[in-house]
Amino acid sequence: MVSKMLALEVYPNLKDVDFKILRAVELNMRYYEWVPLEVIARFARMELDSVSHRLGKLDNWSLVIRRSDIGYIGYQLTIHGYDALAIRALARKGIIRGLSSTQIGVGKEADVYVALTPQDERIAVKFNRIGLRTSFTRIKLYRREFIDKRHISWLYVSRLVAEREYEALRLLSSIAKVPKPIAWNRHVVAMELIDGVELVELRDSDLSRGEAERILDSVLEEYKKIVKFGIIHSDLSLYNIVLRNSGDILIIDWPQYVTTSFPQAEYYLERDLRVLLNSFERKWRIKRNWGTIWEEFRKAMHESLRE
Ligand SMILES: Nc1ncnc2c1ncn2[C@@H]1O[C@H](COP(=O)(O)OP(=O)(O)OP(=O)(O)O)[C@@H](O)[C@H]1O
Ligand SMILES: [Mg+2]
Repeated sequence: MVSKMLALEVYPNLKDVDFKILRAVELNMRYYEWVPLEVIARFARMELDSVSHRLGKLDNWSLVIRRSDIGYIGYQLTIHGYDALAIRALARKGIIRGLSSTQIGVGKEADVYVALTPQDERIAVKFNRIGLRTSFTRIKLYRREFIDKRHISWLYVSRLVAEREYEALRLLSSIAKVPKPIAWNRHVVAMELIDGVELVELRDSDLSRGEAERILDSVLEEYKKIVKFGIIHSDLSLYNIVLRNSGDILIIDWPQYVTTSFPQAEYYLERDLRVLLNSFERKWRIKRNWGTIWEEFRKAMHESLRE
């Protein structure tokens, strides 16, 4: 499924004041579920009339939502408004100069687009959609305090997710095969663009047994390095391993990582490995000795904890 990005379609209509207004709404969503019109006007340092007029346009473009049955007129930022703010920030920092309007990847919890840098290099830009498509279950993995909160802001969660993924890529990119991170802003991570296919897209006949063996070996070798370093992916599967045109593999999609000192680290590590080995067995009939592999990985995990 290829869908257009709404923020990008309306982006050319947006003026400086619109970004000022969107930022005022964003900032105040920490304090209000629906940010009062007066507060937005004060933060944007604008007259009520002109703020109200621009907010009407922003509402038509679906960048904000308006509500008036709460005793006052209030606004919320939508994910599209948040997208627009992130695109603008990345452009101003000189990270991107343009974004293509077609998606290259649709994950469970993110949309990925190709962007151009000011030097005309192509990079990948991943927009988190976590609060919108999921029930926050995965976020609880690493932020226990969320569990008790009744009102969890998707804005806050999706930003946290991007920050975490950027952090994982930053830690890992010098020691293992993961995409190189470039920047993060709000709910968005910019990273190296990978040319290749996810292993899940390959049919069993696309790889010879020998090739599949070699790929599995290199995934295990990479993952062992990462575990030794102290990090567990916790969503490893054929969806998150990319086979490059060069024949190399990369492990992607890191926001849900945990460290090896996390209480349930061993459980997630075991699950990752079982998913990986089971998929290779089902698809390419490769059987590995579970006991040997598990022993090696537990050793790697304990080594990471000693350092
Ligand atoms: N750096 C990249 N270069 C090229 N394509 C990418 C890149 N990162 C992701 N993709 C594509 O986008 C898809 C979705 O990305 P990714 O797996 O990171 O997110 P996700 O599955 O939504 O998961 P999550 O929400 O857990 O981060 C990938 O399966 C892949 O096809
Ligand atoms: Mg994925």
